[in-house]
Amino acid sequence: MTKTILSLLFITTISMAQTGLVTQKAMVVSAREEASKIGSDIMLHGGNAFDAMVATELALAVAYPYAGNLGGGGFMVYRKANGKTGSLDYREKAPLAATKNMYLDENGNVIPGKSTESAFAVGIPGTIAGMFEVHKKFGSLPIAILLKPVIALAEKGVVVTENQWKQINDHKAAIVRLSGDQTLFAKDYKVGDIIKYPALAETLKRISKNGRDEFYKGETAKKLVAYLQQKGGIITLKDLSKYQAIWRKPITFKYRNLQIVSMAPPSSGGICLAQILKMIEPFEVAKLGHNSPKYIQLLTEAERRSYADRNFYLGDPDFVKIPQTQLLDPEYLKQRMSDFTFEKATKSADIAKGKITFSESNETTHYSIVDSKGNAVAATTTLNGAFGSKLYCDELGFFLNNEMDDFSSKPGTTNSYGLVGAEANAIAPQKRMLSSMTPTIVEKNGKLLMVLGTPGGSTIITSVLQTILNVTEFNMTMQNAVDAPRFHHQWLPDDISFEPKRFPEETTETLIQKGYKINEKNWPIIGKVDAILVLPEGRREAGADHRGDDKACGF
Ligand code: GLY
Repeated sequence: MTKTILSLLFITTISMAQTGLVTQKAMVVSAREEASKIGSDIMLHGGNAFDAMVATELALAVAYPYAGNLGGGGFMVYRKANGKTGSLDYREKAPLAATKNMYLDENGNVIPGKSTESAFAVGIPGTIAGMFEVHKKFGSLPIAILLKPVIALAEKGVVVTENQWKQINDHKAAIVRLSGDQTLFAKDYKVGDIIKYPALAETLKRISKNGRDEFYKGETAKKLVAYLQQKGGIITLKDLSKYQAIWRKPITFKYRNLQIVSMAPPSSGGICLAQILKMIEPFEVAKLGHNSPKYIQLLTEAERRSYADRNFYLGDPDFVKIPQTQLLDPEYLKQRMSDFTFEKATKSADIAKGKITFSESNETTHYSIVDSKGNAVAATTTLNGAFGSKLYCDELGFFLNNEMDDFSSKPGTTNSYGLVGAEANAIAPQKRMLSSMTPTIVEKNGKLLMVLGTPGGSTIITSVLQTILNVTEFNMTMQNAVDAPRFHHQWLPDDISFEPKRFPEETTETLIQKGYKINEKNWPIIGKVDAILVLPEGRREAGADHRGDDKACGF
């Protein structure tokens, strides 16, 4: 096919306005229909968005074990119908016995796999604490009612989709290596098979009956610690019993006529999103044209500068002092862009500051919820890697995270995602590892406009950014905004990643001429955004990412 035909095809694809599911009152958009349906039904039967959150999050642990979890953690940003906003940090923590150099050998080199595929890689899980914290503050239905359909789903089982079949097969060898050949995911599943989760159902029943303490002090805690210790891990009962989810003040800022609310550290999401949007605000973004070379340049240069700051300054605010006010200062951000020109690429080496490693994986999951009153929840939850550490505790029925890999294992080396981090994100007992998760809520004229977020490791921030701009600068529907091709820059490596085969060759050629390096290979998926747009007359429009099995349910 000639270049012109390809370009025409490309333009036709993105110019067809296509809406996602539109509902009158309430909606859940998540990685699996089963989870969205459970959350939506909770609201249909009188629950609010926070009740739906508890049910959806735990249903994802059943229907989407790739990232949905009991053995991981996450972040949630909310906006109540009365306009009050806030956020919850239920991120994992380093165990008490963790040490700064725990992943290094005697020569100071990173031991391959120790922070990714071993019991040593597991951070203290925060998900159950998070769900009970949300329920205590905002829940309106009893926990047992919220968990009932989740338990039923685990007992009935979930169909293996083509995407899930691929996920299991891509990681089966590692799962078997870590969890043994008798583990649930060692079997040869086919597309259309049903996987039942009886052990997980039993764990959820005990949690439903005994509450939060079941996971952190009870039978489940004891079984979990015994399992991890037998696998060589360092998490103790004391670690579990000390875990607390924390309500944090979100990052709130203005971009043109929008008010944006996003996650504060230990996630870098909110600060980076604010920095990038503030850096591009002085430009006539819409006039540059969607995904035009100039638009890509502008976002790339702002992203480059923001990620350089992120990797140097950000970490757990309970352990390190983050210069948040300075990082978000309009003068500082203006200065940061003062050497930007549309004529040629800036070199990341000229922006660089610290050189210390941290790592992130892209196997996370996000869901968005709006209820009939207008309460909104954006929640992103993760095991870090695909199926986390690949340790599946068959007795309890869930995977354990490998979130410890999100810390800087060793200053000065790059990780598998090429990210470079700093001392601010060094390992310490009880510390939370830096994240990119960016659950975000957008308001316009004092009213709820959008709820969104995505998995994608370091690409999370730039996917959320582009989705907001797609709607607010380029007037796309929510579904088109989610579906539109995405690109990503993260300071180092110094290249722009493009979704393969989704950008015209003229665009990448123009950028190459200006000195940009192009990468169309490394990221099969840049984000998998699940979002809700509140339409002018109050109806809700879903954007469920076609890149996965993601689906919206509502009424
Ligand atoms: N583990 C991915 C993140 O927290 O950003």
